[in-house]
Amino acid sequence: MTAVPADAMAITTRGLTKRYGARPALAGLDMNVPRGIVYGFLGPNGSGKTTTLRLLVGLLRPDAGSIEVLGQPFSWRDRRRMFRIGSLIETPSFYPYLSGRDNLRVFGAAGPPTRPERVGQVLSGVGLADRARDKVKTYSLGMKQRLGIAAALLSDPELLLLDEPANGLDPGGIVAMREMLRNVTAEGKTVVVSSHILPEVQQLADVVGIVSAGRLVSEGPLTKLLEATGHVRVRVRPDEMVAAAPILRALAADRPLYGVDTGAQAGWFTVSVLPSRASEVNRLLADAGIHAMGLEAGNDLEGLFLQLTQATSAATGPAPLPTSSGTLGPHG
Ligand SMILES: Nc1ncnc2c1ncn2[C@@H]1O[C@H](COP(=O)(O)OP(=O)(O)O)[C@@H](O)[C@H]1O
Ligand SMILES: [Mg+2]
Repeated sequence: MTAVPADAMAITTRGLTKRYGARPALAGLDMNVPRGIVYGFLGPNGSGKTTTLRLLVGLLRPDAGSIEVLGQPFSWRDRRRMFRIGSLIETPSFYPYLSGRDNLRVFGAAGPPTRPERVGQVLSGVGLADRARDKVKTYSLGMKQRLGIAAALLSDPELLLLDEPANGLDPGGIVAMREMLRNVTAEGKTVVVSSHILPEVQQLADVVGIVSAGRLVSEGPLTKLLEATGHVRVRVRPDEMVAAAPILRALAADRPLYGVDTGAQAGWFTVSVLPSRASEVNRLLADAGIHAMGLEAGNDLEGLFLQLTQATSAATGPAPLPTSSGTLGPHG
């Protein structure tokens, strides 16, 4: 994510600001969405996600700040966006007595020019091919969501913006959505999905931007976030702590290593690495003749999310991250 050329970005915003009356909704939002990935736009209710997406499709006009979309400055009047950006921002309204397929034909006729065969393609793409002839009033919530996404894909846009698309989906529906979004990014397209639910974003996104009180407070690849919040805890005999420390420190040289040398917890080390490295921790110690008496691995992304979003909701400005990683540093 360092020194990426501008055209590798699907969206960049700088200082994006929007108020509704006197109430600030966005207070200088800087976001960077690389192309070809699923970007999870994560933040609590009221943090400014929908406002941002509405600005990105020209449904709203910013008070200040700039937007670049697909390598070009974007103005809210820009008509080209209709051809390049698909979106599902408000719950789409469909004609309940028309079939899914006929609804898409109506959408296709009203929006940017669409090839007729595209209707069938997008319906299969979202897994609705076998229900395409059924009336929309017989669809489940998840099916209506998918039909909305199919509508957003009709004009074959390069960028897809989906506001809380996983809302109301069961775990199976979220897995199906992940697969569908993978198909979209496999074609080189970019998807932004907003959500206020961390596990949804963890399942869907490659890169995560965390928004709080109208600002982006953290942004980076999901793997980096997981690494920043992951840990492996290992317990050795207290008299072997001195020998174990340099081995463990070498696993994450730029991160703190915590060890407890007295009391009931004596011998426990906490290493700030991905939980998946637990067996490596065990093996390195064993290679040095040190036998682990306990091993645990975990991740506290939830803790980081709460820390970042609660600290800024209290209007104290961006919270520091418990990491020295530049990629995840707070912006602004
Ligand atoms: N049409 C509106 N009129 C007045 N205030 C609004 C309007 N839409 C959103 N807001 C306010 O702007 C802030 C951001 O809202 P929104 O962008 O909808 O956040 P999110 O999508 O993250 O829940 C909130 O404080 C919300 O109450
Ligand atoms: Mg919203």
